[in-house]
Amino acid sequence: MISSKKIDKIYETVQIEEIIEDFVSLKKRGVNLLGLCPFHNEKTPSFTVSPAKGIFKCFGCGKGGNAIHFLMEHENYSYPEALKHVANKYGIEIEEEDLSPEQQEKDKERASLYIVNEFAKRFFQEQLLNTGEGKSVGFQYFQDRGYDEEIINKFDLGYAPRSGNAFKSAALRAGHEQDRIKALGLISDRGNDFFRERVMFTIHNLSGKPIAFAGRMLGSNKKAPKYINSPETEIYVKSDILYGIFQARTAIRREDNCYLVEGYTDVITLHQHGIENVVAVSGTSLTPGQTRLIKRFTANTTLIFDGDAAGIKAANRSIDLLLEAEVNVKVVILDPEDDPDSAIKRLGKEDFENYLKTNSQDFLEFKIAHYFPKGNQDPFEKSKAIKELVKTLALINDQLSRSLFVSKTAEMLQVEEAVIINEVNKILRSKIWQEKGKRKKDRERERQEDTTFEIQVKQEEEKLGSPDYHQELALLQLILKYGNETMSNGLSVAQYCFNNIQDKDLPGINDPQINNLLDKISARTSGPSKLNIQSLISESDPQDAQLIVSLISDEFEYSENWEKRWNILLQNQKPPEENYESDAEHIVISLKLRKVRKLSADWAEKIKGIKDNEELDDFLEFYKELKKVESELAEKLRTIIYG
Ligand code: UTP
Ligand code: MN
Repeated sequence: MISSKKIDKIYETVQIEEIIEDFVSLKKRGVNLLGLCPFHNEKTPSFTVSPAKGIFKCFGCGKGGNAIHFLMEHENYSYPEALKHVANKYGIEIEEEDLSPEQQEKDKERASLYIVNEFAKRFFQEQLLNTGEGKSVGFQYFQDRGYDEEIINKFDLGYAPRSGNAFKSAALRAGHEQDRIKALGLISDRGNDFFRERVMFTIHNLSGKPIAFAGRMLGSNKKAPKYINSPETEIYVKSDILYGIFQARTAIRREDNCYLVEGYTDVITLHQHGIENVVAVSGTSLTPGQTRLIKRFTANTTLIFDGDAAGIKAANRSIDLLLEAEVNVKVVILDPEDDPDSAIKRLGKEDFENYLKTNSQDFLEFKIAHYFPKGNQDPFEKSKAIKELVKTLALINDQLSRSLFVSKTAEMLQVEEAVIINEVNKILRSKIWQEKGKRKKDRERERQEDTTFEIQVKQEEEKLGSPDYHQELALLQLILKYGNETMSNGLSVAQYCFNNIQDKDLPGINDPQINNLLDKISARTSGPSKLNIQSLISESDPQDAQLIVSLISDEFEYSENWEKRWNILLQNQKPPEENYESDAEHIVISLKLRKVRKLSADWAEKIKGIKDNEELDDFLEFYKELKKVESELAEKLRTIIYG
């Protein structure tokens, strides 16, 4: 286990927005930050981060929590992994002996894959910079390509030596397990080093960890592949990662545009020339996962692809995928013998950027040029091409931009706009029917689940419709938000509430979830201890964490409506944050009143059934007492509300 002292230190240090901004692009909105939720697909941002409260909350899908929850959810980290990520980021040291043997065992598998890769990365770097062979072959190669030491370090470039098992021996000597080295593809089936006599490119995940490698051969040998790559592993899912995203993400957000290129060296050379918002698809065609990755940082892309057949085909497919994800696409097709790497070297930064400006096409111009390479006006060819274009047009969700592109298509191809509209509508209609059919099937399945669901809803509604539940919710909210504040009686709000509601004459809390949470909080606030919301959230199960976050974020803020409907707290004169004293008194009295009212109602029932006169007198005496207490409490409540 990581010691609780260390955990506290981590929670004290972490700035939630700094953690989340590594993954989601956020814009300032009042005191909060707003962005597109990474946990569900959405077009208008409802993912909110509150730096002051240290929490995030998506008002679309309901996910919420603190920085640690975010990392666990987003990166699939275990709790200790998430803590370690934060510790790492802020340079907080966690000693290994802080971990229990079981914990170590559990974390080991995933973590050790990173560790072995980290070792490999260092090994290749070491070879490149500090060995005779590495310097004269590898370093020389990178220098010839114009890379300086800074860029070599920025991209963790390295060199894999000629020898058959230099890496393997070093890794085994350092205590890494052979099976794991093999699983990562660092040694071949025959047990030799997989990467040999190649310059090495480290592939990083979003947080900069080495997840895979690519090795480029030196010189050109037609027999061997130019690049060889690590296989997919638990930590390397090709379709979800783009080469260079770690080094590019900040610049992509800043420029609000992402250059998409084909090769590793294109990315690095552009960086070397000061263009940093660039990532590579690395020779495969773009995937939905990669599109989503880009969309976290920007909705604008520029494809810069080679003018060879492969490049054009890749561009063509990428366009459709990006349009469907509502990402704007511009396309720059270079000369067939060129790639971004060679182009920027020849032109320099400024001319290269000018070149991009003057040669960028929108997707339509690109596709038309592609389908009509020689301005082909053959009617059959033309109608075939229109059918292809129309498929792409139908992918555009936004109606306005779709109709603009429809007009442009008609104009460029010199056909009636109505023809294009007609064709697009055909596709859209069939899409709608498909979706309707799907929805109908879904509905049928849902109907079967409805019975159980209805019961749940009813229970939920009963709960939400009950004044008791709202009182209890308000109590929990008050303690969560203002529990540590000191009242004029010298007690903290939490202590005051607990002293009163834990009195055995007083009602228990009906709702089991709230009751359980209050118990937990009470245990933490006994004596002088203060309530630490962050640690409470992180040690709660997801449902409880969700409730806590809802209550401390502004979603459930007291409203006047609540007061009218449920007769609970809230004064209009002062902002709620100054009302905790009277709110605490109010809620305690409300709970007492609720108990007394219930008692007197029970008592009235009993009295009806009593025959014996003497007994009746005793009962009436007590009933009167109850009524007196009831009216006193009600009066007190009025004083608090109306001053
Ligand atoms: P290119 O052949 O265009 O290579 O392949 P490049 O990036 O320009 O490399 P240099 O400049 O010759 O060093 C484009 C991308 O396709 C993938 C790599 O990601 C490469 O960067 N590729 C290519 C492979 O994975 N394996 C190969 O054998 C070739
Ligand atoms: Mn190249």
